[in-house]
Amino acid sequence: MKNLENIKIAVIGLGYVGLPLAVEFSKKYTTLGFDTSKNRVKELIDGIERTREISNSILEERLQDGLIITDNPDSLAQFNIYIITVPTPVTESKEPNLDFLKQASTTVANYLKKDDIVIYESTVYPGCTEEFCVPILEENSKLKYNKDFYCGYSPERINPGDKKNTLTNIKKVTSGSDKKTSVIVDNLYKSIIDAGTHLTSSIKIAEATKAIENAQRDLNISFMNELALIFDLMDIDTNEVIDAASTKWNFLKFRPGIVGGHCISVDPYYLVHKAKTLGYEPEVILSGRRVNDKMGTFIGEKVLKLMEDNAIEIKNSHALILGITFKENMSDIRNSKVIDIYNILNMNGLKIDVYDPHADKEEVKSIFKIEMVENLQKYDSIIIAVAHDEFKKLNFKSLKKSDNSIIYDVKGFLKKSEINGRL
Ligand SMILES: NC(=O)c1ccc[n+]([C@@H]2O[C@H](COP(=O)([O-])OP(=O)(O)OC[C@H]3O[C@@H](n4cnc5c(N)ncnc54)[C@H](O)[C@@H]3O)[C@@H](O)[C@H]2O)c1
Repeated sequence: MKNLENIKIAVIGLGYVGLPLAVEFSKKYTTLGFDTSKNRVKELIDGIERTREISNSILEERLQDGLIITDNPDSLAQFNIYIITVPTPVTESKEPNLDFLKQASTTVANYLKKDDIVIYESTVYPGCTEEFCVPILEENSKLKYNKDFYCGYSPERINPGDKKNTLTNIKKVTSGSDKKTSVIVDNLYKSIIDAGTHLTSSIKIAEATKAIENAQRDLNISFMNELALIFDLMDIDTNEVIDAASTKWNFLKFRPGIVGGHCISVDPYYLVHKAKTLGYEPEVILSGRRVNDKMGTFIGEKVLKLMEDNAIEIKNSHALILGITFKENMSDIRNSKVIDIYNILNMNGLKIDVYDPHADKEEVKSIFKIEMVENLQKYDSIIIAVAHDEFKKLNFKSLKKSDNSIIYDVKGFLKKSEINGRL
């Protein structure tokens, strides 16, 4: 079919996953990045990278060295490998929302030619590529799967904000719709991933791999969260127990915490959906989701209880929430569960300041209707919700309104002696 010299790659969707991929491929191949968001495209062309996954200097260097970024779908016509990295969220009722995938597949189908390969990187349920996406590609291109065009699936494992585990140094799982395509897809990724690749025997296996990686992490954290809920009733410090238990060789050291974001708190529902369509009602996966989803509310209530214990009048007291992103040292606020803490405190009449040096002010305002503060005052309660490095510079003592003011540490950020409670 093709050799790697002749390939031209179009990456569809330039977010956390797509942009680093387009940047990396552009170092070796003719590469185009296509995104339907005019704003995102304009910003990238202007050298502005909101997700901070790629430094402005690298972006500018790649743009000068041939990386094309566009919102014009007609540019896709000249390419022969299409990599789709669009969002795969869930609906209100926690069902897969495949609208972006459908739209991107339809767009690509309009330009699909004989021998082209479409690789999906979006997180999906096992079977989604061949059962949902391929029919869209066939119908809109009038070409036949595995005869005229081929597919691949290679799940993304990047960890936004993590400068150590990056695209090129995490082993990448690959797959293709037939033997020949598998080898092409695998070689393609091998050519940019220093850590190498793991070729699976089918697209379904590669899809399932991604689904279980995130479901496993969700479950491991949910177990620690359940312990935190139980130990709270016993007045036992969960983190101390975990530290002690970790001295055993086969204990898995996870920490309790709020699980948000659009991967770990979303992807398990994709697996659940597929299982249900096949008549199996998942129990373990869903129970983990339920436990993790209640942690924000639990923390909010815990803060109120600590304030009561310290004789702080709750109504109209002043609270500070440190961090609103779903994870430390990054700007992504999607599905951040910090909002659950905020809502409980807000419902109880507290005046709340939210401070986050990483989150975008306008985005926080538009999604959560919260006006973030830039200058800190003195507070009755301080909640360290996200462990951003910048918070290490804060003088917590001087942020307390009085000796009675409380500090609740969700992330085990401060020493136990400096706080009033932690998860
Ligand atoms: N962010 C992560 O850490 C991560 C890690 C692994 C896997 N994933 C998965 O990768 C996929 C993409 O996630 P992300 O975080 O990069 O999303 P994102 O929201 O950061 O970016 C997606 C981009 O796709 C664009 N887009 C939407 N529809 C489009 C279309 N039809 N054509 C072209 N562009 C379109 C959007 O404008 C946006 O810029 C999801 O399935 C996600 O679950 C994400």
